[in-house]
Formats: sequence, structure tokens, C-alpha cells
Amino acid sequence: MVLNASIHYVEKQLYVDQQPISQIIAQAGTPTYIYSLPRALANYQAIKEAFAALSPHIHYSAKANANLAVLRALINAGAGIDAVSGGEIYRALKAGAASEDIVFAGVGKSIEDIRFAIENGVGWFNVENVAELDHINTIAASLGKQGVKVALRLNPDVQASTHHHIATGHGKAKFGLGAPVIRDLLQNQANYPQLSFAGIHIHIGSQLHDTQATQMAMQTALDLIGPYATIRTVNIGGGLPAAYHPDETLPDLTSFAQMLTPLLKGYTIFMEPGRSIIADAGILICKVLYIKEQSGQRIAIIDASMTDLIRPALYQAYHHIVPIEKQDSPMVPTQVVGPVCETTDILAENIDLPATLQPGDELAILTAGAYGMVMASNYNARPRPAEIVVKEDGENWQITRQRESWEDLLHGEI
Ligand SMILES: Cc1ncc(COP(=O)(O)O)c(C=O)c1O
Repeated sequence: MVLNASIHYVEKQLYVDQQPISQIIAQAGTPTYIYSLPRALANYQAIKEAFAALSPHIHYSAKANANLAVLRALINAGAGIDAVSGGEIYRALKAGAASEDIVFAGVGKSIEDIRFAIENGVGWFNVENVAELDHINTIAASLGKQGVKVALRLNPDVQASTHHHIATGHGKAKFGLGAPVIRDLLQNQANYPQLSFAGIHIHIGSQLHDTQATQMAMQTALDLIGPYATIRTVNIGGGLPAAYHPDETLPDLTSFAQMLTPLLKGYTIFMEPGRSIIADAGILICKVLYIKEQSGQRIAIIDASMTDLIRPALYQAYHHIVPIEKQDSPMVPTQVVGPVCETTDILAENIDLPATLQPGDELAILTAGAYGMVMASNYNARPRPAEIVVKEDGENWQITRQRESWEDLLHGEI
């Protein structure tokens, strides 16, 4: 299912919650991202409920979508934040996150970012390099901070069943520390007097469709920390999937939870979901600029492109596309492309759209809330889209980030 309780048709009109999209777009123009806060919050609650037996602390992974209104809504609902840079920590703090509810992850943390995180009392470091431990220890000492909490990120060397570009837990991936390195570090905790080795962290990939690899990874992690009674926190990362294709059936959240619950009894559990909270709460609205027939196929050229949503070009990701207003006509296979001067600027290779589709018609690219706007660029001097949220009440909406202007693109340049 790619449509849901929030992104849905009322008769022929596509709505976000109680708002007809055509009305929003009449004011805001295209291309524009729209996020349903009711859907994001419902997804957050669904994860909480499925994993209730483990009472997890959910740290929303800001890398998926760091829009301030989205962060604020989730923080108000009780979420902490998983940040991967000083910039994301800054954003999280601006959105109202308590610093102790932020976990700082990332394979290449700069000295400046580490210092910023310690100065601001960020709750946890998910550590991925031995030298990073030295840096955190040294900077903590220079700032007079003791007991800085670290969770070592295990690279468990497992193959997750997902696209190879978003698998992070196989041995050749740059992420995490191998089990022998972690074993060694845990034996030598005394070398890092400012740090408190209090947790272990795994994240084996995104859009995970089975539980087997996670289970194997978790077992390795638990074996490593077993001898250390002071390590009581297990961060199980993110990776829960979202539906991109109408025919896709997702594994039940409870099957993940049921697999992990017996293993993790007695531990404090952290989770870092991103995609599963915000992906299907977001859509990218675009307008058809041209239709042409070429080499026997129909091509729709739209005003959104790989600069707005890079996932199809980067990961060959599928995004379903539907018209804002249903048309009573047969469907025709269509290639949907953007205006950017790249052959890979294709939003959909071959998707059924109404035969009557014409320039000026608006389309919604679905499941675009995660890894969409955060990866947008200004390539071809294209201003990034506006972002809009439909608020918690489902009735009201607001522009949370203005569409960039050409003037904005010159900012900071001489
Ligand atoms: C360490 C870590 N945690 C959490 C996430 C969020 O993953 P997802 O959006 O699949 O839930 C990622 C994504 O890459 C990650 O690298």
C-alpha cells in the first residue's frame, strides 16, 4: 500500500489528511514537498506499540528528514534524535531536543563536531573508529567532562536483505568496528578515563525486509557485551521498511519486535528509525511541463527532477506516481523525467499514468518523505523545493521552508 490514512483520495482528489492538495499547490506552486504530521506521528506510535515489550527510547533519525517542523512534532511526541553531524545536532537543538536525548553517530566525526557535541552535553556517541575514541577522550578531558557515554558500533559482517547501496553491516562496508576490535576495546576501557562504555550499537542497513540478519547481528553484539555488567544499553539502529510499491507487502513490525524481545530482556533499548516514520508521510508534488512520444514511448517531462528527489537516480529506487486529480481514461506506460541535463534524471522508468495526461497536470510522487529533501541539491542552478506540513490536527497546513530563489543560490558567493 502506497496510499494510506493520510495520503488518500477523496473521490477524485488527492488529499493530505483533510487538505485537498490542489488547494495547497494553488498557493504554494510546484515542485513542493508536503509532509503529513498526523501520519509521521502515527508511524512513530506504531513503532512504540510494536516494540512495547522492550520500552524502547526512540531516537528519530534526522538524516531521513530534518525539516524543523517534523523534528519539533516528533520531539514533542517524546522522540530523541539520532544525529550524524554537528549540523544535525544544531538543528535538533534548535527544534527543542534535550541534549541528553541526542545520540551522535557517524563514521567520520570531525574534531569540531565532537567538541560541539561534548560542549552541548549530547547524550551518547555511537563510535565507529578507535581514533575517534581517543579524540572524544582528549576533548572531554580538555573540557573537564567525565563519563561521556559511548556505544561502540559493531560491524557484524552480515548481509542484510536490502539494496546493496543501503546495506551497512557487511564486512567490507565502511561502517562500525569489527568484533575483534570491540572485544579489544572493551578489555581496555581504562585507557579512556573520561568515557563511560555503556552501550553497543548496530545498524545493518535500511529498508530491511527480513529479521534474520538483524538477529545474527544482535547475537554477536550481545556475546561481545555479555561479560561486562556495566554495558546495559543496546541501540538496535533503524532500518525498518516503508512501502514504495503498491504491490509491496512489508514485514509486520511486530515480527521484528518478537524476534528481538527474548534476546534483549533486561537491557535499555534505543532505536533509530528514520524512513519508517517519515517516508510514507511525505510526497513530492510536481507539474507536467511537456509530453512527448519518442522511440515508441510516452515521456512526461515534469518540473521536479533528480535535484529534488535523487533516490531513483542514486539507488534505482521505485517511487509510485499518481495524479492529483484522477482522470477517467485508460492508463498508458509513461517514462517520467526531470529537466536536468543527465540521462539518469528519471523519476520513473515505466509507470502507468492516464492517457489524457497533459502539460499543467499535477502529479504526486509518493513515499518521498525520507531521504528526499535532505538529499536535494542545486545542480543546474535549480532552487530547492518548498516544504509544507499538514499539522497535527490534519486540518491546517503551513509552509515550513520557503522555496529557494535564484538570489538564495548566490548566497555567500563573491
Ligand atoms: C546508524 C544509522 N541509524 C539509523 C539510520 C536510519 O535508518 P532508516 O531510515 O532506514 O530507519 C541510519 C540510516 O542510514 C543509520 O545509518
